[in-house]
Amino acid sequence: MEKYKDKNESLGSRLEDLMSKMTVKDKINQLNQEMTNRYLIDELIEKAMKGIMGSCILADNPFAGSTEYHTMTVKDLNKIQKEAVEKTRLGIPLIFGNDVIHGARTTFPIPLAQAATWDFELIKEAASIMAREANSAGVHWTFAPMLDISRDPRWGRIIESPGEDPFLGAMYAKASVEGIQGDDMSAKGKLAACAKHYIGYGAAEGGRDYNKSEISDYLLKNIYLTAFKAAVDAGIATVMTSFNEISGQPVTSSEYHIRQLLKQELGFEGFVVSDWCSVQKLMNQGVADNEKDCALLAVKAGIDMDMVDRYYDHIEELLSEGKLEMVHVDDAVRRILRIKFMLGLFDNPYFDESESEDYMRESDLLHAKEIAMHSMILLKNEDNLLPLCKQNKVALVGPIVHEKRILLGSWSAGGRPEDVISLYEGIKAMIGEENILTSANPSWYDSIYRAVKNSDVVVVALGEDENLSGEGRCVSSVELPDYQVKFAKIAKELGKKVVSVVFNGRPVSITELMKYSDAVLYSWQPGVMAGAAVAEILFGGFVPCGRLPVTIVRYTGQIPMYYNTPNNSDNRTGYYRELGEHGNYEDVSDAPLFPFGFGLSYTSFEYSDIVCDKTALSLKEINEGNKLTLKIKIKNIGQYDGYETVQCYIRDIVASMCRPLKELKAFQKIWLEAGKEIEIKFEIGRNELAFYNNQGKFVVEPGKFIIEIAKNCVSVDRKIEINVDD
Ligand code: NOJ
Repeated sequence: MEKYKDKNESLGSRLEDLMSKMTVKDKINQLNQEMTNRYLIDELIEKAMKGIMGSCILADNPFAGSTEYHTMTVKDLNKIQKEAVEKTRLGIPLIFGNDVIHGARTTFPIPLAQAATWDFELIKEAASIMAREANSAGVHWTFAPMLDISRDPRWGRIIESPGEDPFLGAMYAKASVEGIQGDDMSAKGKLAACAKHYIGYGAAEGGRDYNKSEISDYLLKNIYLTAFKAAVDAGIATVMTSFNEISGQPVTSSEYHIRQLLKQELGFEGFVVSDWCSVQKLMNQGVADNEKDCALLAVKAGIDMDMVDRYYDHIEELLSEGKLEMVHVDDAVRRILRIKFMLGLFDNPYFDESESEDYMRESDLLHAKEIAMHSMILLKNEDNLLPLCKQNKVALVGPIVHEKRILLGSWSAGGRPEDVISLYEGIKAMIGEENILTSANPSWYDSIYRAVKNSDVVVVALGEDENLSGEGRCVSSVELPDYQVKFAKIAKELGKKVVSVVFNGRPVSITELMKYSDAVLYSWQPGVMAGAAVAEILFGGFVPCGRLPVTIVRYTGQIPMYYNTPNNSDNRTGYYRELGEHGNYEDVSDAPLFPFGFGLSYTSFEYSDIVCDKTALSLKEINEGNKLTLKIKIKNIGQYDGYETVQCYIRDIVASMCRPLKELKAFQKIWLEAGKEIEIKFEIGRNELAFYNNQGKFVVEPGKFIIEIAKNCVSVDRKIEINVDD
């Protein structure tokens, strides 16, 4: 926690003074987290007065953050806090945690959509607004960001993740931590963040939630750990462990993953909390026989706070039996108290009741619209159908036209459907009711026919129910269902131009839909300003600029499919291959429907004069921090001002381990007026060229590297070969 060093140092003596006054029982109590809801207030007041818990989670079931907002007011929470602070011997304040994932009340796009912006200033600002709103409603600590890299769209929680790429994941982690915690977690409107789910949860076999992951250390360090490392480097206060096992070892009981890797190697100084009842689940996983064993394994592994099990009450017995050492308990308590000090809870334990619920300022809604527009991806735009003309008669059909709740996505319990601008409302505000043809139920076929027949263009609003993605909601097929495709098909068969707007949580396969759509805007679940954001894009007020943070497959059977695979033994390319290539599937093209990094614009950009200042550097120079500089000229040669995301991928040609065919190592998102040209630079050094070898060392190995400047991971403008000399 280098960033918070001064604060950390100044609180040292207060912390040690407090530790010296604590009994073993006091210490154990700090390690327990209790659940809450408004019906439990009296019980909680009693518990707080007895000082038997260190924290409360504002939820009464593991999905509470996804289903129903905790309805406790800041007054209720202050009442509970007062007992802890004023009635207990040491007056240690409680820390209140909650799942505030992509917005408190102002709901922003789902995290996967936010990653699609490739704009980490926007993400940081959204996180900061989220923290301010949550803090005003009685939250000290949010269980976000979720940093599970996922290569499997069947997994329902992919929507909470930053996608398939470790580099984007790391950027997302840093921006989120900075937005949530700021420079001073104790400042009003700031929270402690929690990087979850450590680790490998997104790699559950077959995309089945809570199931095992098989991850080698090589993969763990090069793919799954990167975002967590970035969060630790950014000073994240807490980390939540994951439910899954990795190669036979539940993470909840893994000393290697928690104590060694996270706390020692990454240098994490905050505290680790288990996931909901995951300590108890060690029995389901068959590594513990009873509650006491569960507690023993979890404490030894390095889990500092037990989320809702209350199994840590067994610690006293375990200490007296000599099975646990006091150093482990002391370390856990110190970590928790340090964060409480850093949050300023010892100086001001109460939420501000005078101006509670600082929600949905005008500037927050503007930001929600901005980030939603940046997250949407134009996947197809035949004959430049988009942007549409405002004088068009637009038929609006499909199940999502008037929908609101779905547009918030899962893990949006604080969001209210009534706050959401539906697609209908967004388009109506843009072109007037008189230009829209639809019906109260735009899914009824007879009304579709009527609307479509009389229109100039058809906008089809499709997407999955929010209950089809999120925790525990996995699917065996990621194809858009036929009944949804049918809306576009009907419109096409009536000879109309069709614009499909897809509001989905996960990256669904839209192979069929593509056949009947002239244009496709992948809009995710965009949050409160959904309809307004889509309308801006459809009618040219904003030029689309989102880029895919995940691959979109053609068929479910292609999963897993991600871009950064190594060559295979037959010296063919990775998973992104063409039909008929040896060793590939015989029945389908294995090229993805849309590759990682893909996204169209209304304008186009030309890359030229791509030059690198050196073609070789010695290993010594690289390790001393020297870099190569790549310069590229980018010109907007289209009709519209717009954003372009210039991507830089690197391949290590020969190494001691099989290396990916390419890895995203840098990118720049730039704004350029039509006709204008600028020069941008990429600096390539040790961080971009190194990888974790099979001894877990982060090394640059001498030899050839290919640097690619690209519009997405497939469309490469220029390849440059460089050499790292021994
Ligand atoms: C279980 C989920 O896995 C986790 O993400 C969440 O923070 C906890 N429940 C608490 O609600």
